[in-house]
Amino acid sequence: MPLAALDGAGLSPADPRRPEGRVWRGTLTDGREVAIKLAARPDQPQETATAQDRLALEAQVLAQVRPRGAPVPELIAAEPGVLLTEWCAGATLDDWSQCLSSTARRAPVAAAGRGLLRLEAAFAQLPGAAAAVERRRPAWLAARRREFCTAREVAQRFIDQRPAPGGQERTVAEEWEALWAVVAASRLTLGPLDVNARNVLLEHYASSGGRRGWRATFLDMGAIGPDNPARRLVHYTFALGAWQPAGQCVRGLTPAVERRWSCAAAAQWPSEPELYVQQLDAYALLAELLLLGQVQAVLAGKRPDLAAAWSAPAERWRQVARIVRRPLAGHGAAHTIRRVLAASDRLYSVV
Ligand SMILES: Nc1ncnc2c1ncn2[C@@H]1O[C@H](COP(=O)(O)OP(=O)(O)OP(=O)(O)O)[C@@H](O)[C@H]1O
Ligand SMILES: [Mg+2]
Repeated sequence: MPLAALDGAGLSPADPRRPEGRVWRGTLTDGREVAIKLAARPDQPQETATAQDRLALEAQVLAQVRPRGAPVPELIAAEPGVLLTEWCAGATLDDWSQCLSSTARRAPVAAAGRGLLRLEAAFAQLPGAAAAVERRRPAWLAARRREFCTAREVAQRFIDQRPAPGGQERTVAEEWEALWAVVAASRLTLGPLDVNARNVLLEHYASSGGRRGWRATFLDMGAIGPDNPARRLVHYTFALGAWQPAGQCVRGLTPAVERRWSCAAAAQWPSEPELYVQQLDAYALLAELLLLGQVQAVLAGKRPDLAAAWSAPAERWRQVARIVRRPLAGHGAAHTIRRVLAASDRLYSVV
């Protein structure tokens, strides 16, 4: 379908709170609502070749994975620098996380988890998926090692501030090694690399029979590569509330959602559910410590880029510190490290 079918009137920013974004909401002359994604942003008018390539790749990926059952928007048209997809109802998981109570959040987060498994299953069917993952495994592992070391340094700063008696430090060192073993042994799959709670839409629907439920749609397929499914889930379900005046950091995963997803994952990639429980807690802890480090940098005036997007950093600090103290798994390396960090109110000591 040519872009000429786009009704010029009534174009609006996809996210009215961010008019500088590159995604627009529009209507085709046949009345269908569409999302129009441009390679360039109004504030960065220079369309780079990379941005165009990413858009072309996104079109290809959508066309290939949707027929294989992936919950992604339907591709309508693609031309150099422009991508047209169906407009999907709902709000991002990040937005839902800002307004729902922790109890009400459980259902959309669980729906995101189920949607992710369908997304993973569709990507796994792409020709050459397994080989593409293997080729990039060393680079993936090196990137995780760097993150792991940074997260460990963040944690160590708290421990050093309030050393505990009784050789607790030695125990923690062993637990860090165990945590790294969980990461290093992770199964990798082909899928999206831009994983965050703004890239998953959740629609609260009612069927014709009156049954209510949540439906997830995943956005932003312009960067594809290897990652671990549990790590993807952790990042898709952690809201940051960026660019919002009262935006909060919210972890969507709870032990109950984690257990159910782990059972479903163990059915999709046969193994023990406990393996996925351990991976989720490990990746969640690493993500939370990295975030804590970033909030600390904002508070110290060292990250003006993040400061612009994150309101009330001191409040964010308290939110993330509270999250770090709450384990997802009932035992294991991440569980122990969280317990040590929670001891003596260590996480409350540095603001
Ligand atoms: N098909 C769609 N249906 C409904 N909303 C959409 C659709 N595509 C994008 N959006 C909205 O536009 C926002 C940005 O879309 P997308 O993530 O694809 O672009 P982006 O430029 O990578 O943005 P960001 O940098 O915020 O991730 C989404 O968070 C969502 O709110
Ligand atoms: Mg996005």
